[in-house]
Amino acid sequence: MNQPQNPGHVDPILAAGDEPMSNASGNAYFGDILETRLSRRTLLRGSLAAAVAGVMATQLPFGRALAAGPGVEAPSIGFKAIPVGTGDSVVVPEGYRVQAFIPWGTPISGDMPAFSLDASGENQAHQIGSHHDGMHYFAIDGSSRDGLLVLNHEYIEPRFLHAAAAGMPLDRNGFPQHEDGSRDADQVRKELNAHGVSVVRVRQGDDGQWQVVQDRLNRRVTGLTPMQLAGPVAGTEHVVTKYSPDGRMTRGTLNNCAHGVTPWNTYLAAEENWAGYFANEDAEIDRRQSRYGIETRAEGRYQWHRAQGGADEFVRFDATSRGAAPSEDYRNEPHAFGYMVEIDPFDPQSTPIKRTHLGRFAHEGVIFAPAVEGQPVVAYSGDDARFEYIYKFVSARPYEASNADGSLLDEGTLYVARFNDDGSGEWLALAPGQNGLTPENGFAELADILVNTRSAADHVGATKMDRPEWGAVDPATGQVYFTLTNNTRRSEEQVDAANPRAENHFGHIIRWQEDGTHAAERFAWDIFVLAGDTESGRDLAGEPLGQEAIFSSPDGLWIDPDRRVWIQSDISESVMNSGIHEVFGNNQMLVANPETGEIRRFLTGPIGQEITGVITTPDQRTMFVNVQHPGATTSAEAFAAGELVSHWPDGGNAIPRSATLVITREDGGIIGA
Ligand code: FEO
Ligand code: CA
Ligand code: CA
Repeated sequence: MNQPQNPGHVDPILAAGDEPMSNASGNAYFGDILETRLSRRTLLRGSLAAAVAGVMATQLPFGRALAAGPGVEAPSIGFKAIPVGTGDSVVVPEGYRVQAFIPWGTPISGDMPAFSLDASGENQAHQIGSHHDGMHYFAIDGSSRDGLLVLNHEYIEPRFLHAAAAGMPLDRNGFPQHEDGSRDADQVRKELNAHGVSVVRVRQGDDGQWQVVQDRLNRRVTGLTPMQLAGPVAGTEHVVTKYSPDGRMTRGTLNNCAHGVTPWNTYLAAEENWAGYFANEDAEIDRRQSRYGIETRAEGRYQWHRAQGGADEFVRFDATSRGAAPSEDYRNEPHAFGYMVEIDPFDPQSTPIKRTHLGRFAHEGVIFAPAVEGQPVVAYSGDDARFEYIYKFVSARPYEASNADGSLLDEGTLYVARFNDDGSGEWLALAPGQNGLTPENGFAELADILVNTRSAADHVGATKMDRPEWGAVDPATGQVYFTLTNNTRRSEEQVDAANPRAENHFGHIIRWQEDGTHAAERFAWDIFVLAGDTESGRDLAGEPLGQEAIFSSPDGLWIDPDRRVWIQSDISESVMNSGIHEVFGNNQMLVANPETGEIRRFLTGPIGQEITGVITTPDQRTMFVNVQHPGATTSAEAFAAGELVSHWPDGGNAIPRSATLVITREDGGIIGA
């Protein structure tokens, strides 16, 4: 999901480069830094690694060479780029095939209830959820034709979920409710069950078509599934509730955006914009909620706490202190959200586990560095909100393939990134007694630091970023890439080298190389691409982006085994196809070469959606990509009149549904090559 932006401003980068600009912050002006680096790049034949090495030799406090080294090859990118798209369909390059798969409502378990707008809340617990997002393919016995697709369902549009919504003037955030503000309990159940994660076995037939297999591993994890809390926050007073007086359990996961795959082959779902689901009528709200956007209010996003009948599993979305003690109400319920949730897709009976040591924030996703025997496990995660941070977890115990499991994530150190203007960076530990995180400064102990991750990161002086989204690790160089989707609220005074544009409408991608292993406390960074149109965008060589490469608001990101950098865009529904965003058309996916910085458009999606989530089978001959919220740009009036802007994927007069794309090549070749 993207957040609303302020449309209509001209991006300052349009004017940057020739004209000197004033910057009251005292930070180096980005134009200077860019120019310095670009001339280094030119001198050193375009290699970012060499450019950073040049910076390090003269300015940085450590002196490793960053060159990729011999044997590291650039990936082949063999398809012909496609133009931007504006139609209500998916377009892929010549020689490729695409098929829509497992749309919202597809039955996968239980009595396999057929898709229907009339389906009940209980039916939804056996069907694919809505708003597909992060996704992984877990091969069964190494197969590229038989595996488990595991995917997140970030949120819902209630108007497209309920037959009863037809004819109502509902926009993309609207929902049916009674005059007194209460809600139908089965609609609420359906909405909670349409969130979460799907685990579904899929198999490719001899005809090349992928099908759902009815299988004992098929499973829905939803907003109602019992979950365990693990790590330092588990069992503390922060998470004591009426449901779990010992603070070790909670129910459900929400707003699962991107994901991660652990070195021990389990799945992690990220809890991103969970705060909005809660009401809290307390006059005073402490930082455990206020720093995450919960303020005094009677309303939650979908008013779930107002479900008729007052069932406990719905009432808990009211975080007001109503009882005599925390064990008698749900004042602490929001403290059980904001984590990475571990799910073992191969054990359908397993209880999902919220791993609290990875921090509590609006987790976009998590990306693991390749695990090395005998070394700590390292994972990176971004906090997707304006001016929030990028984090790294380093395990205390070393990775040993023979016995590695999720408990490795329960002990270690959480760090937050500071990007210095000279191209160096450091990881600041969020640990008791370190970097001023002491009781005197308001951080009692580790659980307190983790529940208040954002406040702790503020305290240590981390760098405020332009909405960190997905990360990816280059398998050959170990360089870590992160998308920074946009931040129109950054002022000229707030510009720094890592977030170089004020009113950043289009976003950018940053990357860094750790100083040694991924557990290092220092790194060197640079900017891979400044997204934008042909005037404002800049590639790795500092050249304007061509028509085949323009994009805005990078979000999903994946680097395949051959090092192709797959970039997915999420221009907000509030600005897509209009104003300065019109030139980008519908949201799309592109491929970049990490060595040359060349970018080519690979796919464009239907109307009103975002493209998010990408993975291939191990042989790279089938790619899965998600299309989320087609038709979201339908206005309330148009919805009431039955005039939807998208009918994808079913066509005709059908309501639009999020779905997964299956992409193959006509010649059976490797996707993207
Ligand atoms: Fe759910 Fe940050 O996109
Ligand atoms: Ca997004
Ligand atoms: Ca996203």
